[in-house]
Amino acid sequence: MPITTCVFDAYGTLFDVTAAARQAAEQPGREKLAASWQALAADWRAKQLQYTWLRAITGEHTPFWNVTMDGLDWAMEKHGLEDDAELREILLALYWELAAYPEVPAMLAKLKAAGKSCAILSNGSPDMLEGAVAFSGIGTYLDAVLSVEDVGIFKPASKVYGMVGARFGCAPEEVLFVSSNGWDVAGASGYGFRTVWANRAGDPVDRLPHRPAHILSDLTTLPEIAT
Ligand code: LAC
Repeated sequence: MPITTCVFDAYGTLFDVTAAARQAAEQPGREKLAASWQALAADWRAKQLQYTWLRAITGEHTPFWNVTMDGLDWAMEKHGLEDDAELREILLALYWELAAYPEVPAMLAKLKAAGKSCAILSNGSPDMLEGAVAFSGIGTYLDAVLSVEDVGIFKPASKVYGMVGARFGCAPEEVLFVSSNGWDVAGASGYGFRTVWANRAGDPVDRLPHRPAHILSDLTTLPEIAT
């Protein structure tokens, strides 16, 4: 069955989640952050994701913005930055203006030229996603921006992947799902989507029941898989 619909995870896949800490560290007077921004960004991301999984398991859903703040607070305390309220505000503000990875606009333009429907399917709150899409200028290529807020549970709950068929009226086999998160790819593969893992970090494949159909180091050649 041909691919009709290409669906992308947002954070880490289309948008560079490390950009907020990196940009804040480049500001004058931020020597302490400059020494630890990579570890801070990694801990922030790890805690943000762990909190989504735990909230999905316990049924205590809250918008992604809240787990983003909770993850940052944990990471700032771990790195001895918890008293810097100004830095917290700067990092959170930057999260609304994350840059897209450089290959993303041209890749999406190729998919649209090939007649594919393109969408984001993200844990992100609608307002956060709106901010990042507007800032990166990729809205023109997207037919839909789907947020888990419409179903009230985070990925990899299968209800979330079901939003794609509900929106586009397509079968799972017609969907190419793309994520930089191994666990998200595993969830989407288990749901029945064809999957691409954007393995930007060169990590090992996750030991989960479902493996990615394709592995890329970035999204440049994705249109060759989709068409
Ligand atoms: C998202 C996170 C998981 O965009 O990256 O859904």
